[in-house]
Amino acid sequence: MKAKYWDEAAAVMKSLLADGTKLRREESLAAKTTMRVGGAARIYAEPASAADLQILLRTANARGVAIFIFGRGSNLIVPDEGVDGLVLALSHETWAGFELRGDGRVWTGAGLRLKNLCGLAAKAGLTGFEFLEGIPGSVGGALRMNAGAMGGWIFDVVEEVQLMTMAGEVRTLAKAAMHIDYRHCAELYEAIALGALLRSASQADASSIKRQMDAYAQKRHESQPREPSAGCIFKNPPGNSAGRLIDESGLKGERVGDAEVSSTHANFIVNRGHATGADVLELVRRVRARVRQVKGVELEPEVLLYGKKWKDVL
Ligand code: EPU
Repeated sequence: MKAKYWDEAAAVMKSLLADGTKLRREESLAAKTTMRVGGAARIYAEPASAADLQILLRTANARGVAIFIFGRGSNLIVPDEGVDGLVLALSHETWAGFELRGDGRVWTGAGLRLKNLCGLAAKAGLTGFEFLEGIPGSVGGALRMNAGAMGGWIFDVVEEVQLMTMAGEVRTLAKAAMHIDYRHCAELYEAIALGALLRSASQADASSIKRQMDAYAQKRHESQPREPSAGCIFKNPPGNSAGRLIDESGLKGERVGDAEVSSTHANFIVNRGHATGADVLELVRRVRARVRQVKGVELEPEVLLYGKKWKDVL
């Protein structure tokens, strides 16, 4: 697609949006991702309201522009050639709400960082969210992936989710009506989470909640790398650990360019400085092939790959 096509689509979108909504052409995404690789978004927008999000979706649909939801840039690999479409990030403060609703319930906006959610919940004496500490992402991204750690996942604490369909309609779905699985929420592959009503397990004092969060943080620091990464690359196969399988296949320290299988935890690929998207993808391919050869297990990627299908890359 030529630059003129994207210029025109961006100009039409911009003419319909309110001033608070950011929209840019060729916005570089690497620095916005936790893996720190990849090219630019042909069009990038941070809508400042639901009305503007709706305009962006409807205009993109009308022009056949593909839509990508960015979240906070974790659990994601952006290819070096960038993203042929509209990349949407709910980074505007309007999406970062945290409102206590009584009975241990709290409304959280999709753009709220999990770290902030944990801090605010602890202050309010709400337990049950501690395991989300240290997951580098937002509520919306966590819902889409059903993110988890320390034996829990986010849908354990969800009551309902508000979402916008790709056609721009707002809907509220009770958890019972949603199809949730390990690192998967079917409804959010075809829609954008706007926020969720969460329920706390119980009340406790802020200091004991903080202690639990500190214990999780320490466990994470001991077992997971600190260098830039996209989180775990592969899903754990049923009853097994992808990290252990990769480790036992002798792959720790395996390197393509500056992309390296972490020596701390083998299911992380870390960026040792100047890795490219191509380096990371080549390493994912190599790891998967070796584990297949040595262990006879076919690992499935957990991280999202923008603009390409994993099956075409692996
Ligand atoms: N192990 C190894 N070598 C390694 C890594 C792990 O032998 O290099 C072994 C460990 O010793 C342990 C087992 O594998 O016996 C499981 O490891 P760990 O406790 O680190 O958990 P995990 O299954 O590898 C999962 C999630 C993480 C989450 C942690 C902590 C997945 C794919 N991973 O990791 O989530 O933070 O539990 O609760 O479900 C993510 O999804 O991006 C992610 C990082």
